[in-house]
Amino acid sequence: MAELSKREKVYHVFQQISQTYDRANGRISLGMESRWKDCLIEAVCEQAAKGSRVLDVCSGTGDIAISLAAHRPDLKVTGLDFSPAMLDVARKKGAPLANVTWQEGDAMKLPFEDNTFSAACISFGLRNTSDYLRVLLEMTRVVVPGGWVYCLDSFVPDSLVIRPFYSVYFRYVMPFLGGGSAGIHLAVAVDAGFSQEEGAPGLVWTSRID
Ligand SMILES: C[S@@+](CC[C@H](N)C(=O)[O-])C[C@H]1O[C@@H](n2cnc3c(N)ncnc32)[C@H](O)[C@@H]1O
Repeated sequence: MAELSKREKVYHVFQQISQTYDRANGRISLGMESRWKDCLIEAVCEQAAKGSRVLDVCSGTGDIAISLAAHRPDLKVTGLDFSPAMLDVARKKGAPLANVTWQEGDAMKLPFEDNTFSAACISFGLRNTSDYLRVLLEMTRVVVPGGWVYCLDSFVPDSLVIRPFYSVYFRYVMPFLGGGSAGIHLAVAVDAGFSQEEGAPGLVWTSRID
């Protein structure tokens, strides 16, 4: 059988782990993930104009899109992901909210016209895609001039002292804490891990679109 592309591998992993993703995420980040996500949500909520449209790319089980919609009932939020199983979980979690909608689609080819949203964000998604620059370009394309692109992600530390500990944690401790299959997606992700040298995002990284 032909070797699976990164896109296919990532797709299959998220299709499999959708039901356990939220719990595993809390464990492997040692509970810090929700605080990191709050930083992104705060930044978007502060800047989004009243009644504007916001896109959450690689939305997964919808944490970011749902929190944005809950904090700002005036916003119209769209959560996009290519995994129907992840979106099913998001739909159930976001059911009480009228201002969030879900769309199946590819982050590398967003199914929206230019200048559709006032902001686009992505949380722990870029490293799972096969071409993160293309995803950022797509996010920029669908955001209006003067709008914002936000990215929340982790990076491989460039300190030679810290890096070995990080690698051991990522490769061995995280899969253990994540409980089997959740570890697989992290192994896929770490191979594409950003480094600070690349100028890739640290925690929350924002960019205003000209
Ligand atoms: C690590 S999860 C992040 C989910 C969520 N944003 C969060 O912070 O919990 C990455 C998500 O990216 C999605 N994904 C990966 N590649 C994608 C692509 N090319 N297009 C759309 N979604 C993609 C996966 O299905 C998965 O739900």
